[in-house]
Amino acid sequence: MAPSLENSPEGNTYGNNDRQYPDVNWEEMGFSLTPTDYMYVMKCSTGEDFSQESLIPYGNIELSPCSGILNYGQGLFEGLKAYRKEDGQILLFRPEQNALRMKAGAERLCMPSPSIEQFVDAVKQTVLANERWVPPFGKGSMYVRPLLMGSGAILGVGPAPEYTFLVYASPVGSYHKHQRSLNLVVEEKHHRASSGGTGGIKAVANYSPVLNALTRAKAQGFSDVLFLDAATGKYIDEGSACNIFSVKGNTISTPPAHGIILPGITRKSIIKIALTLDYQVEERPVTIDELMDADEAFCTGTAMVVASISSVTHQGRRIEYKTQADAVSQKLRETLTGIQMGRLEDTMGWVVEV
Ligand code: COI
Repeated sequence: MAPSLENSPEGNTYGNNDRQYPDVNWEEMGFSLTPTDYMYVMKCSTGEDFSQESLIPYGNIELSPCSGILNYGQGLFEGLKAYRKEDGQILLFRPEQNALRMKAGAERLCMPSPSIEQFVDAVKQTVLANERWVPPFGKGSMYVRPLLMGSGAILGVGPAPEYTFLVYASPVGSYHKHQRSLNLVVEEKHHRASSGGTGGIKAVANYSPVLNALTRAKAQGFSDVLFLDAATGKYIDEGSACNIFSVKGNTISTPPAHGIILPGITRKSIIKIALTLDYQVEERPVTIDELMDADEAFCTGTAMVVASISSVTHQGRRIEYKTQADAVSQKLRETLTGIQMGRLEDTMGWVVEV
């Protein structure tokens, strides 16, 4: 049960009751943390199931300096969004897919994981407890961040003796605020993932290795970086936090999510939507040369949704793409967000009411 939220600060009311929104300028939100009221926590020791769930005030947590997450990066995260419909109701988008992906990642990192039901219930409880922070219809979303980590102390390399599953949430706006489309630069020095590694799971340790390239790209005025495969340097991999698609004529291509590429839930949903809109979709290795020759390119991710790419720069050569309103990425984005926000009928059974 979510705690009662009787003491909301002044603001406009939301939904079908007289509760009030916090004092937030929804129009100005980007993708940064706005602390909310509560977070969900559940723990388990080796050989046990997750239990003793609780909703506690959002805040710092205590961790052993010797914990598995701090010392050996034994941790995963997920990301999903809650949207408010026009009638005030709140919708989640395919939360069980995040639960399944966390389960797969936990197996790879030798961690126990919450059941699918526990995961989805925890997400719902977190959203409900922080309901006043879910932006009004059309003004953004609530980003929900489930974490699974080795919280027990472990000095030698090995699985931690205790695990924590924690869910927090923050209202967010656009990931690349004030950028209608992205200009990417191909990274020449570093790789994001390699065969047999952890590129295909949402390991926390996948993200710090991209920071060096991302920081260099941003310092040169690019929005984001595009990695190439580690084995040959010929094929596109991912952005810093998104899957990549190219469009040529009626065909949409994206690298297969087999081990190296993260099986994005937005990626998977966009493929399905594209097929229903009669595009041809190919999941296959895509060379950087093909991408440079495409009519269009776009990125997908929970945080980014669907973002069109205006240009890619590779070895000093810059290619520009179509990004107008009639671009394929715009049509796909319209359909996806229409379903997510309850504006379009959900014929796939993807949305879950909170
Ligand atoms: C998401 O889209 O949920 C991501 O994982 C991106 C995040 C690293 C900002």
